[in-house]
Amino acid sequence: MDQEALKKLCAEAALAFVEDDMMVGVGTGSTVNHFIAALAGRRSRIAGAVSSSEASAKRLREAGIPVLDLNGTGGCDVYVDGADEVTSQLAMIKGGGGALTREKIVAQASRKFVCIADASKLVAVLGRFPLPVEVIPMARSLVAREIVRLGGRPVLREGAVTDNGNAILDVHGLSIVDPVALESALNQLPGVVTNGLFARRPADVLLLGTAEGVRRIDRSPAGVTVPSQ
Ligand code: A5P
Repeated sequence: MDQEALKKLCAEAALAFVEDDMMVGVGTGSTVNHFIAALAGRRSRIAGAVSSSEASAKRLREAGIPVLDLNGTGGCDVYVDGADEVTSQLAMIKGGGGALTREKIVAQASRKFVCIADASKLVAVLGRFPLPVEVIPMARSLVAREIVRLGGRPVLREGAVTDNGNAILDVHGLSIVDPVALESALNQLPGVVTNGLFARRPADVLLLGTAEGVRRIDRSPAGVTVPSQ
């Protein structure tokens, strides 16, 4: 099975977490696009969707799924999103598609976070994938210098402007052994809007698309992961 087929497999498995009348948070990216296509078949049974990007909002509307402003909801029952890297503790690097800030907001506002990813995204240590950091444009150089002090090699994502009008620095050369600590440290830098580490609010469930089928990993409240099959 190719990577696209594995993405589709785990995306369709996420439908099992969508119940009638739920408010569904929808992430961004090629894996989520398969989820949106599958969710279209349930459009009349859900309360609506909250999108993490303009791109996903457009796809949702095209699929006939009502898109709501997060402020007008009491949060989402479930949030489904992909990842660029994910550990077995369900900490993630996200933001390869540049939607990290809205993704982190919707994730925080959701009662359950289901991460969908093909098997290539599972890693022992985060950091091989360059860590995206969304920055206020005037603070770009300041933040880059601070990141160098933290041991990273920031590279400006040329031409990228986020849905919030900001720039993105992709930070190379990190081996992130303590993702919670680095997420917090980066958030302290003036000019940083969000960083792509999702460790303080990790996923609750990982659905991994593998050649043998969908492998489910649940995060226990104590942070110990429990393989379900
Ligand atoms: C979007 O900003 C990202 O966080 C995506 O969730 C992540 O890049 C995964 O994307 P793919 O599903 O396209 O690999």
